[in-house]
Amino acid sequence: MRRNAPVMLGAIRRMVDLELDGEQVRAPEGSTILDVCRERGIDTPTLCYLDNLTPVNACRVCMVEVDGSRVLVPSCSRRVEDGMVVKTDSERVRHSRKMVLELLASSTDMSLAEDAVHRWMDSYGVDVKRYGPPGPSAAAGERDRRQAGHHHVPDGLSAETVAQPVKIDNELYVRDYARCILCYKCVEACGEDAQNTFAIAVAGRGFDATIATEFDVVLPDSACVYCGNCIGVCPTGALMPKSEYDMRQAGTWDESRQAQVTTVCTFCGVGCNLELTTQDNRIVRVDSPIDHSVTHGHLCIKGRFGYEHVQPR
Ligand code: SF4
Ligand code: SF4
Ligand code: FES
Repeated sequence: MRRNAPVMLGAIRRMVDLELDGEQVRAPEGSTILDVCRERGIDTPTLCYLDNLTPVNACRVCMVEVDGSRVLVPSCSRRVEDGMVVKTDSERVRHSRKMVLELLASSTDMSLAEDAVHRWMDSYGVDVKRYGPPGPSAAAGERDRRQAGHHHVPDGLSAETVAQPVKIDNELYVRDYARCILCYKCVEACGEDAQNTFAIAVAGRGFDATIATEFDVVLPDSACVYCGNCIGVCPTGALMPKSEYDMRQAGTWDESRQAQVTTVCTFCGVGCNLELTTQDNRIVRVDSPIDHSVTHGHLCIKGRFGYEHVQPR
């Protein structure tokens, strides 16, 4: 081995001084306000942001107050600057976050959203009935979902909701856009951020806006390759493996009887980590850890759905 070999260092980053909730903090140049909040354990709600996707600033739930800025700024994409004074828990910030969550929860079914979303809804005192009772079509969708056993459906939704029938057009995953908050994560995962398949995009405007395939064709007729990377990033359960959907419909999905185990996919030599969710000694769902250096949370059809051959009969 050559002596005095050069040690490879990462790029040296200048440190930036700012004030965060009354405290002086230092952060590497290029960090976002969200990075600094997380570093310091400040629980900041995010819906459209994910570490493995490009920020799209769609949901506006992560807003913080910055001195000198007329409007609140999105912490997930705004980079820290020298002398910045940031407030993450002011009355204005809390009001804005509550409003965003209330508008979403009034128009979509958030009952299967990630645990963190429910924690934020509690913490900001979200009133899901604030915008009034549902219209007739929304009421029908709500009734269907209650009959299907979705217990967190509120008694009254807003007059306008995105309620619509569940799309079941293939054996691998279902799309329930009554749960969609239009966070764009699935579009990004299907596009440049991971899969580069571009099978889905946002179609329509306002309450008619929805995630759709090209010309709204069924998935088997679309460009979809069934990698399921859109399922992996969806925060609300709008996209769900059919195995999980069927069990929820049958009332047999029971998280208290489930376990998670990480293993390595054996289909090829890439070495993707698989996070298996099992119930009663059967695999019921497959994901991949977002911090895994090979997958960054993304898989192909074989890793995500190719497990039936190992199931006990
Ligand atoms: S399964 Fe994969 S290819 Fe199909 S829509 Fe989702 S991300 Fe795109
Ligand atoms: S389907 Fe899920 S990931 Fe896609 S935009 Fe809707 S909520 Fe976001
Ligand atoms: S998480 Fe920042 S805008 Fe959505």
